[in-house]
Amino acid sequence: MSLTDYIRTIPDYPKKGVQFRDITTLLHNPEGLKAAVNQLVEQYKDLKIDRIAVIESRGFLLGAPLAYCLDAGLVLIRKKGKLPCETLEESYDLEYGTSTIEVHTDAIMPGDRILLVDDLIATGGTAEAAIKLIRKCGGEVVECAFLVNLPELKGDKLLEKLGCSTFALCA
Ligand code: PRP
Ligand code: ADE
Repeated sequence: MSLTDYIRTIPDYPKKGVQFRDITTLLHNPEGLKAAVNQLVEQYKDLKIDRIAVIESRGFLLGAPLAYCLDAGLVLIRKKGKLPCETLEESYDLEYGTSTIEVHTDAIMPGDRILLVDDLIATGGTAEAAIKLIRKCGGEVVECAFLVNLPELKGDKLLEKLGCSTFALCA
């Protein structure tokens, strides 16, 4: 079974015209999360990643076990208002709205090799905002890794323009 087979698509959620990729079905299956994390471990085990930056909320699900397996630190990029200490913030547009994300100013050391992890890239707006935050902290974005890429929304092309490569386990 390929990873794509574990993920279901819900039409017109959360608004008309959006084909929502629902990863809960991958998570429900005992083999699904394990297969996804193991594939990411294989991809990144030799790249000397210092910290994995994960985007709330679905990015946390993949990034935390990956950080554990790679002996890397975990940096939480959270929706505005959730982090208790001093933060930097970036706002961005989504396929279905707008949002603001934040990171703690002390979460990344200058020169840290950072892998950005999220469940999905659509327009790339969220990842772009996260890359800006990581760079403001002095981190080097080694790559951006996703479970799902929706190439028709050209998020991967946007990240390329920012000088970041995109890796995805499925489309
Ligand atoms: C989803 C997804 C990505 C983002 C991708 O998160 O998990 O973070 O959208 O979209 P983009 O490439 O067009 O920016 P969402 O904001 O829905 O939050 P959630 O993970 O908390 O559900
Ligand atoms: N985030 C942005 N677009 C999405 C989509 N089509 N499915 C799931 N999450 C998303």
